[in-house]
Amino acid sequence: MNYDIADPALAGEGHRRIAWADRRMPVLASIRERFETETPLEGIRVAACMHVTTETAVLMRTLRAGGASVALCASNPLSTQDDVAAALVDDGISVYAVRSEDSETFYRHINAILDTEPHIVFDDGADTTTVLHRQRSSQPILGGLEETTTGVLRLRAMAADNVLRYPVVAVNDSATKHLFDNRHGTGQSSLDGILRASNILFAGRTVVVAGFGDCGWGIARRAAGLGASVVVVEVDPIRALSAAMEGYRIMSAAEAAPVGDVFLTATGDIHIFRPEHFDVMKDSVILANAGHFDVELDLTGLDAMAVGRRKIRDNLEEYELTDGRRIIVVAEGRLVNLGAAEGHPADVMDMSFADQALAAEWLVENGSELAPDVYTLPRELDENVARLKLASMGATLDVLTEEQARYLESWEEGT
Ligand SMILES: NC(=O)c1ccc[n+]([C@@H]2O[C@H](COP(=O)([O-])OP(=O)(O)OC[C@H]3O[C@@H](n4cnc5c(N)ncnc54)[C@H](O)[C@@H]3O)[C@@H](O)[C@H]2O)c1
Repeated sequence: MNYDIADPALAGEGHRRIAWADRRMPVLASIRERFETETPLEGIRVAACMHVTTETAVLMRTLRAGGASVALCASNPLSTQDDVAAALVDDGISVYAVRSEDSETFYRHINAILDTEPHIVFDDGADTTTVLHRQRSSQPILGGLEETTTGVLRLRAMAADNVLRYPVVAVNDSATKHLFDNRHGTGQSSLDGILRASNILFAGRTVVVAGFGDCGWGIARRAAGLGASVVVVEVDPIRALSAAMEGYRIMSAAEAAPVGDVFLTATGDIHIFRPEHFDVMKDSVILANAGHFDVELDLTGLDAMAVGRRKIRDNLEEYELTDGRRIIVVAEGRLVNLGAAEGHPADVMDMSFADQALAAEWLVENGSELAPDVYTLPRELDENVARLKLASMGATLDVLTEEQARYLESWEEGT
């Protein structure tokens, strides 16, 4: 670490960038205004394990406005923006995060936020939840909130095994989260990460997208929009069919390996591309991952095959193979949009974090009566976030006439 987190210049830059994000988060701003007067989180201690970005900073300030005290650590070693961490410390928030922290520091920081004895835990990937279940199983918690698909999968597995010990809201599953954040946020910012790291031209290249879920949908669409020819690798027939009807070619990983110029994974699964695929890839292909954990590309396998390994640009590392071919990896195979770019644009995090703030309020109101399980945010809260966002965009929603409402509800009225 070559800077001082209390350096006013570092914090100053963070404050300026947070203000820019804040300007593009009108829904969260309206919730913050209400929180300031109603203080629904008064006396609540929050521990948040999230990407330490400008948008997260706006959420943390909103929770503070609602009366909560907040401790924040990073949910990924590469996603912390140090100027943002410094600015939040300046705001009186306890921050335990530094970009490129090692694994030991990462877990020390998770334990530090849990030492504050939080009522509510905000998690992104369920790492904090896992620590709370494995190592701190007697620590009381009112409830949790989970931001991402991979975390929700882990939580549902815990609920199915009857080991989940408090209620958790799967914020990821709100429509105003995954249909926009995962699709449009990850779609745009993952390509942004590859572009910032490599400055390649997408037009004319073949981009292989593994996983055609919400994230893959967005990535494929943005890559096609930049002029790339898109190949999709899927294991789910419905998702694969839907990708085919969007005009993408569907291939197995083995078929796609010698064809692609850029490979981008977004599956939430492990070792999508591995030595047998690296063996047949073209020279100078680019590999990146947008899935939550850095396991989608088998980089241990790639390292074992390589005769040389060197950094060629910021966030770009080249592995040289015995036959002279080079395989280029972006941001160490970690979330490319956070490691090599700034994560999702504020405009889309506005909705995800509005959902988070409302979910925290909902947990405070209802948590003590809920059984340990995975919950989704009530539909009316989700719809309200969509309404507020539409209003901020100057869009006018139509309303059903009485005749239309009656028609839709009746099974007797035909044409
Ligand atoms: N980078 C980000 O900022 C960001 C944002 C949101 C979600 N995520 C993460 O991205 C990942 C995907 O999220 P999502 O919401 O798109 O999930 P999703 O469940 O909607 O989609 C995942 C897709 O991957 C497919 N898949 C699974 N294993 C596969 C395999 N071996 N080969 C090919 N396809 C496979 C599944 O069939 C599914 O269609 C998760 O890890 C999630 O946590 C990252």
